[in-house]
Amino acid sequence: MADVAPAVLGSQEEALVEVVELSKEFDVSPPLLTRLLQGQQKSFLRAVDEVSFSIPRGRTFSLVGESGCGKSTLARLVVGLYAPTRGRILIDGKELSRLRSRREQAQVRRRLQMIFQDPFASLNPRWRVRDIIAEPIRAHGLMSDRKAIDRRVGELLELVRLTAADGLKYPHEFSGGQRQRISIARALASNPEFLVCDEPTSALDVSVQAQILNLMKDLQRELGLTYLFISHDLAVVYHLSDYLGVMYLGRVVEWGAARNVFANPQHPYTRMLLDAIPDLEMSGRQRIPVRGEVPSPMDPPSGCHFNPRCPFANERCRAEIPMPIPTVHGGEVRCHAVEEGRLTEEVVRDALRRPLAEEEVP
Ligand SMILES: Nc1ncnc2c1ncn2[C@@H]1O[C@H](COP(=O)(O)OP(=O)(O)OP(=O)(O)O)[C@@H](O)[C@H]1O
Ligand code: SF4
Ligand SMILES: [Mg+2]
Repeated sequence: MADVAPAVLGSQEEALVEVVELSKEFDVSPPLLTRLLQGQQKSFLRAVDEVSFSIPRGRTFSLVGESGCGKSTLARLVVGLYAPTRGRILIDGKELSRLRSRREQAQVRRRLQMIFQDPFASLNPRWRVRDIIAEPIRAHGLMSDRKAIDRRVGELLELVRLTAADGLKYPHEFSGGQRQRISIARALASNPEFLVCDEPTSALDVSVQAQILNLMKDLQRELGLTYLFISHDLAVVYHLSDYLGVMYLGRVVEWGAARNVFANPQHPYTRMLLDAIPDLEMSGRQRIPVRGEVPSPMDPPSGCHFNPRCPFANERCRAEIPMPIPTVHGGEVRCHAVEEGRLTEEVVRDALRRPLAEEEVP
């Protein structure tokens, strides 16, 4: 893991990306006629709920959480593929939704790119690789001379450890890992500073995953890139993250310097996720077994969304949404038990002795 001394909130590092109280609601209402006939109201699904964090330039912020917790929606908001319902995204101090002129929008868009989970779906199968990679160069008007573009495409392919000759082939001629390298080369074609990577390795075999993660680390060092790295797997982000955020049903429940979150997790959900993987920090801390399933985001539990799965839930947890409070490590956590100081190691140990209620058994 990268050696990061300052914690996020107390960090003196300059933020390239700032996300401020960002929310996204999807209208998931039945068709108008059905609603009228059945006397139903419109219904909304809050996929991202008041999320705030910032990413210093040249650093990696990883966001983890189980399926359906809003990671991809957040990724799409940050690169401007979705408009936020509320909140702001600032790139280098410029608010995305306030850029009025097309020129300004294009300039900021060039600086941020996204890499998707599925390298099969994100590459046009009818185009040669060189045309796939050249497309952003042309679209952003970065070069017009054909030979110069070919040279640049060759350089980009070599940057991701493929060869210039690979540009003549089609995507289906490559393996999954090679295809993800092509996606990375295309994302880098517009000389971006910030890459949003939405589970870029989860469709790949474990050995190939490690190669792509190493490549991404090398590229970060060589090009000074800033990453928002999204994964459902804490073990994947362990070696990559400077900062770590944990998402649960649309909310970031804990975030901070990655080494602090890994070594000393505060939120019961973070502890639960960490317990599903080997004790990477060898901290010897008490383990909370993973239990239960994520409830439907259509009808999330009241108060703290995590309360039906949490061994420490009480009446307050079921009634009141926990607000972010600073952690001792300079991060933030949303948990009443942490705020009240009742999550001692002893309490955690007792919770472990208590057998799971039948409805809690996963
Ligand atoms: N365009 C949409 N319209 C309606 N609901 C949506 C839309 N996109 C996502 N959702 C819902 O929002 C919630 C969050 O989805 P999202 O894809 O962001 O989760 P995720 O954390 O990326 O999950 P996964 O790990 O499975 O990729 C889900 O309940 C999903 O069904
Ligand atoms: S607020 Fe309550 S239910 Fe939520 S994680 Fe903390 S103790 Fe558990
Ligand atoms: Mg997703």
